[in-house]
Formats: sequence, structure tokens, C-alpha cells
Amino acid sequence: MRKPIELLVNGESEEVFVEPWWTLARVLRDELGLTGTKISCETGDCGACTVIIDGRAVRSCIYPVMKAQGKEITTIEGLAGEDGTPHPLQQAFVDHFAIQCGYCTPGMIMGAKALLDENPHPTQDDIREGLRGNLCRCTGYKRIFEAITATADAAE
Ligand code: FES
Ligand code: FES
Repeated sequence: MRKPIELLVNGESEEVFVEPWWTLARVLRDELGLTGTKISCETGDCGACTVIIDGRAVRSCIYPVMKAQGKEITTIEGLAGEDGTPHPLQQAFVDHFAIQCGYCTPGMIMGAKALLDENPHPTQDDIREGLRGNLCRCTGYKRIFEAITATADAAE
């Protein structure tokens, strides 16, 4: 039987009725309509479902929704400014042609945001290591890493 819980998502408190075994990804997409968070492998291996919880990049497809209570959740929908201005990482992905099909992109950007928040001046190895769990099947990683590097450089 579903039970009500409160989630703090992109700065808003949301009441949702969930089955206790549901994942955060399912609730974000199906209950809150935040479909920017993608689901692909559902085993924690591809990173498409990456969101940020209390400052850490997390695979929401294997993250129990019950565990997300009382935590600060940020999804790709929460990155743009209030006036709709894209976050610098979002703009950099566009400027550097770091997107093809786009399926990995929200997770990749959320992973990159968590990385830059923790380490504003990453080396190429830091970026590679930080995003090793985020897979892209079509763009290749060169342009993605260029976009992240450009964002870090622009913030200096
Ligand atoms: S869908 Fe979550 S890691 Fe692949
Ligand atoms: S842009 Fe297609 S999987 Fe990354």
C-alpha cells in the first residue's frame, strides 16, 4: 500500500504517495514528472539516472526513495536559472557539441556538476575518474570533457 512521504526536490517540498520499494528515479519521473532524469540500465552501471543528493552524485535507479527523505535532491530540471538561463555546464555542452542523442546528457551534466562543486579545478584525469560511471554510447567523451573543462576554466 502506498504511503505519503515528503521529498525536497530542486528546492521545493513535494508530497508523494509511494510504495516503499520504489526507486527515486521512478518517483522523480512517474510521480513528479521530472523526466529529465533518464532510466536505462536500472542496475547502477550507466549513469543516465544521475541526480545530486546532498552534494553527491547518486544513481537514482538504485536509490530507494524512502532513503531520500530529508535530503536535498537536485535534478537536471533544477539547474537552469529562474529566468530559464541554462546553467554554464548546460551551455558548455551545447557550445562544444557534447551531445548527440542526448540520452546520457542529463546524467553526465549532473555528474559533472557534483564533480566541479567538489573540485572546481579538475585535471583531465580527475574528470575521467569522476565520470567513469557515466557512459555515452554516441558522442564519445572528448567533447564532453572539453565542455566540462571549459566550464571550470570560465569559472576561474
Ligand atoms: S539507469 Fe541508473 S545507472 Fe543506468
Ligand atoms: S549523447 Fe547519446 S549516449 Fe551520450
